Amino acid sequence: MHFPKVRPRRLRANPLIRRMVRETAISVDDFIYPLFVCEGENIKKPISSMSGVYQMSVDHIVAECLEVEKLGIPAVLLFGIPSHKDAIGSEAYNDFGALQNAIRAIKSACKNLLVITDVCFCEYTDHGHCGILKDNDVDNDATLDILCKEALSHARAGADIIAPSDMMDGRIGAIRKALDENGFQNTPILSYAVKYASYFYGPFREAAESAPAFGDRRAYQMDPANRREAYKEARQDIAEGADMLMVKPALAYLDIIRDVRALTDLPLVAYNVSGEYSMIMNAIEKGWVNKEIILETLLSIKRAGADMIITYHAKEAAKML
Ligand code: PBG
Repeated sequence: MHFPKVRPRRLRANPLIRRMVRETAISVDDFIYPLFVCEGENIKKPISSMSGVYQMSVDHIVAECLEVEKLGIPAVLLFGIPSHKDAIGSEAYNDFGALQNAIRAIKSACKNLLVITDVCFCEYTDHGHCGILKDNDVDNDATLDILCKEALSHARAGADIIAPSDMMDGRIGAIRKALDENGFQNTPILSYAVKYASYFYGPFREAAESAPAFGDRRAYQMDPANRREAYKEARQDIAEGADMLMVKPALAYLDIIRDVRALTDLPLVAYNVSGEYSMIMNAIEKGWVNKEIILETLLSIKRAGADMIITYHAKEAAKML
């Protein structure tokens, strides 16, 4: 009879030895919690497709941020939902818009919480596309000008990190220059560098009221079939001065996270997006899977190479750790 010399089970025999040989860890330090800010007062409106996620007015956002801070989560990612939309998304750079008001309120209430802001136009335009339209297409260079205005407005309100998600060409360089010229040379840019055109954003578009009124985003977001294009986008944003890179979505793109990890020394963020969240929450609520699946999922994203994870699970995961 043959007995194996190599027995991997030796190192799995009990919880202590498993702990000793564990290769990847997740911690609350890794999490970034997304929040949707709307106008008005005392508003906390549930998003039907995202259990436990709400659009909140500034008062509720501050209460939520105090809780997030207490859980030890280091950062939130803010999305603004304006009540007024127009063709050029002008509310996006209103210094007294809901988002800008929220930034100021959070920064004065929470001393141990970073505020990252999503810079984009899809929530602010009446057509739901991520910039200014020309002949039914997003005009890249015209959009760069208003992206800079939006980023500056966030920085003036006190944003700690600017995160452009629009996918226009040249936006990182343009925003970097605008920030530098206006005294914000120390404000970092987290680039949504590798962002695919994905059906996993479905529930977010309900949350942010940002579904395109016609067509889709395939003329600016990346084709899910492309891997080499991820290198190109990442290199471009590094060259333009990005401080951190993001891959989005996360779960169907773990291979891309791995590749971008190998390509750059910059901190790498993965966005565990709305559709990924909703599928898991649905299965948990139906009793089909154990809730621990949340930590397993987040672990897989870190194992693939992400340093940080933007996730709607952040609060729950912080409590479970
Ligand atoms: C804005 C933006 C989107 C998401 C983040 N920023 C939607 C989109 O590109 O359509 C998606 C986030 C999520 O699904 O959780 N451009």
